[in-house]
Order: sequence, then structure tokens, then C-alpha cells
Amino acid sequence: MTTKVITYGTFDMFHEGHRRLLERARELGDHLTVGVTSEDYDATRGKLNVTEGLMQRIEGVRRSGLADEIIVEEYEGQKIHDVQSRDIDVFAIGSDWQGKFDYLSPYCQVIYLERTKGISSTDLRAVRNGTIRIGVVGSGRIASRFVPESRFVSGVSADVVYSPNAEHAQAFADAHELDRACATFDELLDASDAVYIASPHGRHVEQVREAIASGRHVLCEKPLALTAAEATELFAAAQAADVVLMEALKTAYAPGFRRMLAVAQGGSIGRVVSIDATFTKLLSPGREHDAPDGGAITELASYALLPFVKLFGTQPSEVRATSLRPSDAAVEVFSRIDLRYPGGIGTAKVGIGAKAEGDLVVAGTEGYLYVPAPWWLTDYFELRFEDPGRRERYYVKFAGGGLRYEIGEFASVIRSGGTTSYMLRPEESIALAGMIEDSRTNGRVFGLG
Ligand code: CTP
Repeated sequence: MTTKVITYGTFDMFHEGHRRLLERARELGDHLTVGVTSEDYDATRGKLNVTEGLMQRIEGVRRSGLADEIIVEEYEGQKIHDVQSRDIDVFAIGSDWQGKFDYLSPYCQVIYLERTKGISSTDLRAVRNGTIRIGVVGSGRIASRFVPESRFVSGVSADVVYSPNAEHAQAFADAHELDRACATFDELLDASDAVYIASPHGRHVEQVREAIASGRHVLCEKPLALTAAEATELFAAAQAADVVLMEALKTAYAPGFRRMLAVAQGGSIGRVVSIDATFTKLLSPGREHDAPDGGAITELASYALLPFVKLFGTQPSEVRATSLRPSDAAVEVFSRIDLRYPGGIGTAKVGIGAKAEGDLVVAGTEGYLYVPAPWWLTDYFELRFEDPGRRERYYVKFAGGGLRYEIGEFASVIRSGGTTSYMLRPEESIALAGMIEDSRTNGRVFGLG
């Protein structure tokens, strides 16, 4: 009787550790099946920056001559299905997964093989590509989320921080176990290959300018700029200096949102004619409520306007904001931005001082897409039609806080030698800045209580 063995892995840059694992797995039986993860599966489970494509990784496994059969692992839960449908006797995997696959033991023997010390795809990637040192500018809420997320992306390291408030910078460096807090922005630039800018909105433009001028790649928190002219200038500067400039608008890089866009663009709901996107987040008193560059629009409109630039394009025919501003506040706390395009209409609602349902509806001539709150962290959406019984449901994993996707894309654009990402193109970031500018300068503001 044949003893069938199965093992799985990414097998990026097929190395000695992989070969020894497969050799030992093969010795456990007479027939070895090797599952190689698909790109989509790796992305959805948050494993980013895999260097080789699926075909190349399969080729690496094939060339080892150790696999009798190679299959593609495409989704979570596939292992349990494969083990049963393929009559597998032994499931073998490296000891880094100790205990993680015990759930397969009712169906087959589960064996953890000792991992070969001193080699991994992660190390090879770091050696081959060099680690990208990202300096963090700012020590607030979003910067605090960035550092832990960056650790999920191989080949990047965030080791230094700069904030004008030295005490905050030091506390941030201590909390996140960074190498050091820099005393000046220049010192941070010196210690970095790239910078992540998470300072208050009003400082973005000058800091991005300076970082580009010193030849650093830049990932800048949204909104990159508060005017289209400034955003245009920054992308032109990045292009001229041959460095990457990307706006850190996490939704744009997340697999679920991109999948939703693909479904909308694929014609399943007919022609898209209307979009309604709402994003509210109650913020306690602070800079967002008091500073001249604060308010619901600068804080949140980048998200709510993103589906518009993605599905309707970068040239709205009209942008009209109506906002509410409490009598004692410097800025608006709730805004509704009505948009008109040659082929569609829609409304983006944002609030930092009022709470509403944060969902997204993309209406088409044959049906609509419904993304429940929080749609900007898309992990689930539905296709709905006239017939209420007809629904298609999509689930896409959204790992951690989601910043790892934008960091992964940033690193991969740097490595590929490009200057921009197709996931959020310069003209789209410029359009977002222009829409924010229009909403703030031409909007109607009404007093609130
Ligand atoms: N493996 C091993 N010894 C190594 C590296 C990997 O035995 N030094 C095993 C893993 O335990 C797994 C299989 O090889 O069973 C495929 O692992 P994979 O995750 O593709 O390789 P890694 O080198 O661990 O990749 P990464 O660094 O990206 O996690």
C-alpha cells in the first residue's frame, strides 16, 4: 500500500532548508505532494514581499526532483480538504509550525520536522535586496500603528523616529524598541533609505519636499497635500529625483478593497452610476478639532473619496461640500460632499463629531455592491440585485491593522525601481487633494448649535 505524504510552503527562492525539508518528508512515505501557496493566498494571509511569482516557485520545487506531485494552495482551509480528498497518510511541515496543524490529526498523521537552522527565504530576501531602512516622522496614533505593522513586511526595518517634541519621540522610540529618536529631521534622513511621514497634515508638503530633495523614498500619510497644485509639485519632484512617492491611504492597497473594485469594474452590477461612502470617527478634543488644517474633511475625506477616484475617475464635474461647524469650533465636524461626474453621481460623508453608519454602496444599472462598516477595512462585501434572493458574498482576509499592505507595496515599488504604485496612482492622489481643496474652499458651512 502506498503511503502518501503532503507538505505545504511558499518556497520563495528555493533554498537548502526547503530541500532538506522535502527530502525528509519524502522519506516518510512513497509519494510526496507539495502544495505551493498562490500569490493571492499569501497576500490575504499577510505574507508580503514574496520575491518570486507562483510559477517560479513551483519551478524551484519541481527542479529539486523531490516532489511526485505539485499543487497550488489557494485558500485557508484547503489543507483539511486536500488531506481527505487525496487520501493522505502523513502531513509533514517544519517545526516553526509546531502544534499549528494538530487539527489535521483526526485525518492523518501530523509530523513536525526540525527546521534547518540558519537559512530562510526572509534572510535571503534581506541579503539579496538589502533591508530598506524606514525613518518614522511623527509619534502620534498612526505612527504607533505603523511600526508594529512594518514588522510583518520582510526586508524593511523601522529603527528611527523624529518628532519636533523630543520627549514624545524618545517615548515612542522606547515603546517600540527603536534604535533611537533623532534630534532633527535631517538626522532622520541621514539614517534612512525611506521615510514614513505621519506628522500633522499641514507639515506634509514641506517634509515630503525635503525628503525627496535628499533622495529618500517617501510614504506619506493621507492627505498627502491639501491642494492639487502641491500634490502635483510633489509627484513631479519625486519623478525628477527618481524616488518613490506614495500616499499612505491604506484602503487603496488592501486586498479586499481591490477585490471589490475589480468586481465593480468587471461588470457584475452593470455600469456604475452612483456611490455612497460614509466614514465617521468620533475624535476627542485635540488637533483635529482645533488646528486650521483639522476637521472632518482633512481627517477622513481621503477614504470616502477613494471609491470615487477609483470607479469614476479623476475629473469630477462638480464637488460640493455642505458642512456643520459647532459655534465654538475652529473647523467643521461633519461634512457631506456631493459629487457629479459625466457618468455618475454620489455622496461622501465624513464626521469627527457625529457618528453615522460607515458603509459603502456602489450602485449599478443591474445591481449594487454593499460593503458594510467599516468598509475602508474591507473584508466582506455583497453583490445584491433586484431579486432579494439573489446575493453573492465575498470574504477577503484583512490582516492586522492593514498598514502592512501599503508598506509591502511601498517596499516592492522601491525594489522594482519604479517611482509610483498602480494601486494609488499619482493622478489619483492629485485628484483626491483637489477634491479636498474644493470641499474646503468652496463648501457651504452651517453653524451647529
Ligand atoms: N523550512 C525548513 N527550514 C528552513 C526554512 C524552511 O525546514 N530553514 C521549511 C518550513 O518549515 C516549511 C517549508 O520549509 O515547512 C516551506 O517554508 P517557507 O515558509 O516557504 O520557507 P521559509 O524560508 O521559512 O520562508 P519565510 O522566511 O518567507 O517564512
